[in-house]
This record gives sequence, structure tokens and C-alpha cells, in this order.
Amino acid sequence: PEPGWTAYADTVVVGSGIAGLTAALAARHAGSVLLVTKARLSDGSTRWAQGGIAAALGRGDTPEAHLADTLTAGAGLCDEAAVRALVTEGPAAVRRLIDRGFKFDTAEDGRMSLGREGGHHADRIVHAGGDATGAEVSRALLARLDQLPDEIEVIDHALVLDLLTDADGRAAGITLHVMGEGARDGVGAIRSRAVVLATGGLGQVFNATTNPAVATGDGVALALRAGAKVADLEFVQFHPTVLWLGEGARGQQPLISEAVRGEGAFLVDAKGERFMPALHPMADLAPRDIVAKAIMRRAMESGLDHLWLDTRHFGEDKWRGRFPTIWESLQSHGIDPVRDLIPVAPAEHYASGGVLTDAYGHTSIPGLYACGETACTGVHGANRLASNSLLEGLVFAERIGSDLARAFGPEGDPAPGEPVADPRPAVLLSPTVRGATQQAMSAGAGVLRSAASLGSTARLLEELREHTDTQPRAEAWEATNLQQVAVALAALAGRREETRGSHWREDYPKTDDARWRVRQVLSAQADGC
Ligand code: SIN
Repeated sequence: PEPGWTAYADTVVVGSGIAGLTAALAARHAGSVLLVTKARLSDGSTRWAQGGIAAALGRGDTPEAHLADTLTAGAGLCDEAAVRALVTEGPAAVRRLIDRGFKFDTAEDGRMSLGREGGHHADRIVHAGGDATGAEVSRALLARLDQLPDEIEVIDHALVLDLLTDADGRAAGITLHVMGEGARDGVGAIRSRAVVLATGGLGQVFNATTNPAVATGDGVALALRAGAKVADLEFVQFHPTVLWLGEGARGQQPLISEAVRGEGAFLVDAKGERFMPALHPMADLAPRDIVAKAIMRRAMESGLDHLWLDTRHFGEDKWRGRFPTIWESLQSHGIDPVRDLIPVAPAEHYASGGVLTDAYGHTSIPGLYACGETACTGVHGANRLASNSLLEGLVFAERIGSDLARAFGPEGDPAPGEPVADPRPAVLLSPTVRGATQQAMSAGAGVLRSAASLGSTARLLEELREHTDTQPRAEAWEATNLQQVAVALAALAGRREETRGSHWREDYPKTDDARWRVRQVLSAQADGC
């Protein structure tokens, strides 16, 4: 649709989680900033993060040790240079967050309290409010934003639609749909010199996810339509311990943080027996993909779709003191973890892939940057290490800020010209496509995959293209984005004929280093998605 209004900024940042807010705060040193967010500023995934932020800040811990754990979890596909940037700049990025107002939990000696999560060989998880780290990150960064109304302008309830590009293919801004009132209602455009995508995850592509309803893969879908490269989309992480709410539970599900296992909780099967110690030297704290697969296997052997987490030895004081958010959530579902076992099953949690970037957030389109979950910097490889996601948002958003200062400087990049009309307007799909996409993806492209299941998912997704819509409503855009991202994800999962990290093929159960120790990069124009 034709934009009804136009605004201008040097940089437009799309998204208001840890990556978007940090990018906006960093980009203001380079020029004017407009921050666009789909719902309210605090509605993204960041505020739901429980475990924390991984960084080598503890006595005896080192970035090298953090690097080693990240590479092991990534199962041979991490970009080592990107991981090195993450782990070496991580401690300073956490300190900068603290300078911006983040209040971390302390131990009895007054030092920072550091927790343990799956795949980490050291206590290195900075947390806040016990298990409310993301909420505290969000509070601190939004409070900082509030202090800078003249430097960072905000447009909320604004769904990003497409990228504007100039005749040379450089990013020149975005189109967006504002669901509000006043001069900037409806479809508009923001013209800018740089666009930073920080739109978060794509969990809503599946039936059950820990992600909030807004996580509809908007950044990846925009990038696909714009012809930018995306990578590693087949590596979707399923968190092992999501509260099982019964068969057919849909939408956002309550997370039971890995930090609970870090404090000594363990998984048990239908006979009440522990099974992780026999499967991995790190037992219940093995990397996430290993624990998720072990739960699925054990549950299927007993004809079940969930198992249990045992925390009965914690006692109420430990529960309330260390995990107040999860305690409340369990109570609200009628579970008393001091007396009851907690029913858990894996559910979609994190997209390790996304819009392909280099180590400074550049995508394959000049002037278009990406950071946070929507980006694929290469730090996660085939499986993200626990609590590396908030850290990635911090480190790479900051790197984008410094690159913008260079790009807008005297020796910098040329400013984009006038936007040209997009020769490939998106075909809008009906909002009903959202549920159908989720069903198709959970049935054939979830934790367990095979050529047959992925083929049937691909066919179902293809059929959904016929359900078009003519009203440019936000729900229709979200459904369109979900379907488009699902098609790309299923295509990459179908091509990868091996099992690696979080990608589990029943028909190719082995890791095939000779053929598949490579990352898959996809561009919609070349690959027909
Ligand atoms: C958790 O608290 O288990 C989630 C941490 C993460 O996703 O990194």
C-alpha cells in the first residue's frame, strides 16, 4: 500500500527488546534515531527471559572458557571470530548495562551472584530479581530511554512492513502500519540512512513456544522479501523444560528456567527415575539440545508426551527466594513444587538462525543491519548456549552503534537516494493462515523431523498461499510473515540431511561432517521462497 505519511531519521531501529533498545542508545551518538515497536515498548521477548546473561565475570572464569563452551554447544557451526567478539566484549557490555541502570543480584559477600546453566563449565550467569532478569533489563533500558526523549523518538503499535531501497539497492527506510490515532495512523514510511532490524524471534511459527504473541518473525520475513540473505533457520531451539499444560496447549507457554536445574533440580521419567546421568557427563546440565532430545526419547518410549522435573528437595524458602516468578507461575497452575513433580516438555524457545550479518551487524543489503534474535551473527551455530542470547543482543547492538558513527562520518558510506518502488509487492495472506501455519510446522518441522514430515509440511504451507486477503490489517501481515518464514525454515530443514545441534532428523540420525559441516544461506530471490 502507498504510505500516507513520511517521517525522517538518520537511523530507524525496529524492535524494543535488549537488542533494539541497546542499538537505539548506541546509535544516538551517530545521529537522529527513531525507534519503532510493534506493540508497547515492553511487549517483546526480553522481559520474559528468566535465566540471565552469560559473561566471564567470575573468579577463575575466562572468555576463552566461555568461547569453548559456546563452540561445543554450537556443534561445529559457530563462526569462531563472532564468538570471540561475543565472549571478549561480553563482560564490558554487561558493565555498560549496569551503568545504564541494570540491578543484578548479589551473593552474601556483596559480589555479583553468578548462576550455572546447561553447557556451561563455570558459574557465569548474571541474573536479576532471582529469575526475572529480562524484566529488569527491560525496566533499566526503558528508564534510560525515558531520559532521552529529544534524542530517541518512539513510534509504538507500529508493525514494520517492508524495506525501502534506492536505485542502487541500498536501504533507504521502511514502510510501517501504525495502529493508532493522529497524524501517523495507518500505513506510513520512515526515510533513513540506516535501518536496524531487532524484531526478535519467530516462536509463533509453532503451536507451543515460550515466546510472546508478538514473536512472528517480522524481521526475517522483511529481509526475505527485500532479498537479504538469511542463514541457519533450520536450527530452532526447543527448551527442554517448559511447563506442560496438557495436550493441545497453544501459544506462549510458561518456562521453567535452566537455572532451576543449575540449582540442583533433575529430570525423572514415569518410574520416578533419573535418566540424564547415564546419558551425558554433565547430566541434567548437558547442552540444551541433548536434554530436549533425551526427554522426547524417554517420553516416547513410555507412550507419554511429557516427563517431570523434581525440585522437592529445594524447600519453599529457596523456591521463593531464588525463583519467585516461576514459583508464582507454578502456583497459578495449581502446582506446588515443594510437594509435586513439575510436568515438563520441550517447546520452541529460540531461533539460532535469522538475517545473516557480519560481526558489525551488516546484512547483505548496504545500510540494513540486524541484531538480537532476528539476526544470525554466527555465534550460536547449530545450538545456542544458554543465556548467550541477551549477551548477543548487547554486544552486537553496541557494535552496530560504533559502525553507524563510522558510516555517517566524513569518510563514511554514501547516503541512499530516493526510494524506488518495489517490483515484488507482497501478497497478503488471511489471518487464519497463522493457526494453519503453526499446525503444519509443529506436525512436521518441530523437535523431530524427517523427509516425509518436512515434505508434508512444505506442501501444506504452499497451499496456504491461496488464502489471500485484501484488507491490509496487522493480523494479515503477521500471518503472511509467519507463513513466509515457515516456508524458508522448512526448506532449509529439508535440505540438511543429518542430525546436528537442535536439528534432529529421524531419517538421518548421525552428524555428517563430511557433507554438512557448512552453514546454509538462503536468499528468497535465488531460492524461490
Ligand atoms: C532459561 O532461563 O532457561 C533460558 C535461558 C536461555 O534461553 O538462554
